[in-house]
Amino acid sequence: MKSIRIFAPATVANLSCGFDVLGCCLDTVGDEMVISLVNEPGVKITKIEGAKLPMDSDKNVASVAVNALLEDYKKEVGIQIEIYKKIKAGSGIGSSAASSAGAVWAVNHLLGSPFTGKDLVKYAMAGEKLASGNAHADNVAPALLGGFTLVRSYTPLDVIRLHSPKDLVMTVIHPQIEVKTSDSRSVIKHKIDLKQAIHQWGNVGGLVAGLFTEDYDLIGRSLEDVIIEPLRSILIPEFNNVKNAALNQGALGCGISGSGPSIFALSKGLETANKVADAIREVYNNTGLDFDIHVSKINEQGIRILENI
Ligand code: HSE
Repeated sequence: MKSIRIFAPATVANLSCGFDVLGCCLDTVGDEMVISLVNEPGVKITKIEGAKLPMDSDKNVASVAVNALLEDYKKEVGIQIEIYKKIKAGSGIGSSAASSAGAVWAVNHLLGSPFTGKDLVKYAMAGEKLASGNAHADNVAPALLGGFTLVRSYTPLDVIRLHSPKDLVMTVIHPQIEVKTSDSRSVIKHKIDLKQAIHQWGNVGGLVAGLFTEDYDLIGRSLEDVIIEPLRSILIPEFNNVKNAALNQGALGCGISGSGPSIFALSKGLETANKVADAIREVYNNTGLDFDIHVSKINEQGIRILENI
């Protein structure tokens, strides 16, 4: 038996303008998993701590993603998965993605890395399909590749690793209410106005250009969502007040993290990110709601090994 303990990071998807295509990887919040290669063939979930999730391997995102990988691997292997959840389900910071991406990454490592990081995105998407009914890759791609990622195309899958300017720091508030991705996807319109589309894809291009040229002002101007945020933000208590507080403290931009209810703010430098955290905390202290706040630099590496067991 060979085992590894890994850190499977939380991620912020969409980044305002890039619904289903942009995402980035966090460093200070994530799950741990222990993945083992065993003699007995098949994929088993042997332990889950920190959340009530299915042990049945057909219903757990981690084992479903691993089975997708093993279908292509073609040789018979035995895998056991222990999951130590720290990212709450329905938080909007890629809880299911951390499990799916972490599991396929670890299995690939234990098998001697027959697949590339980009191949693994495809397998982890099978877990996302199970979790939300939609195989979006904007959380699993940054978890697997680290940094910022762009899904240029889903058919065929074409994932691009973007550049991360070193001074960017994320502040994320997670109000302790659950918003299921499937529910917050149901409030979105499936047809959009051409004028809005033009505005939005201008911002996607601007954000990508801003990341590569380390132009923090351009990054800030591009963190704008004229399509999804107006519809989804009504599900999030105090969204507008949080956004105003973050921008007043000098955040480059602020928006819904993935499908919410978490809200992210991107700042230049840790000092501003901490001020943003204080201002957001003050807004939420008045609500009576429980919440967590995370301040994190961008995790360039993605998933990492904590221990060879
Ligand atoms: N792009 C997905 C959505 C991310 O917004 O529904 C879910 O975290």
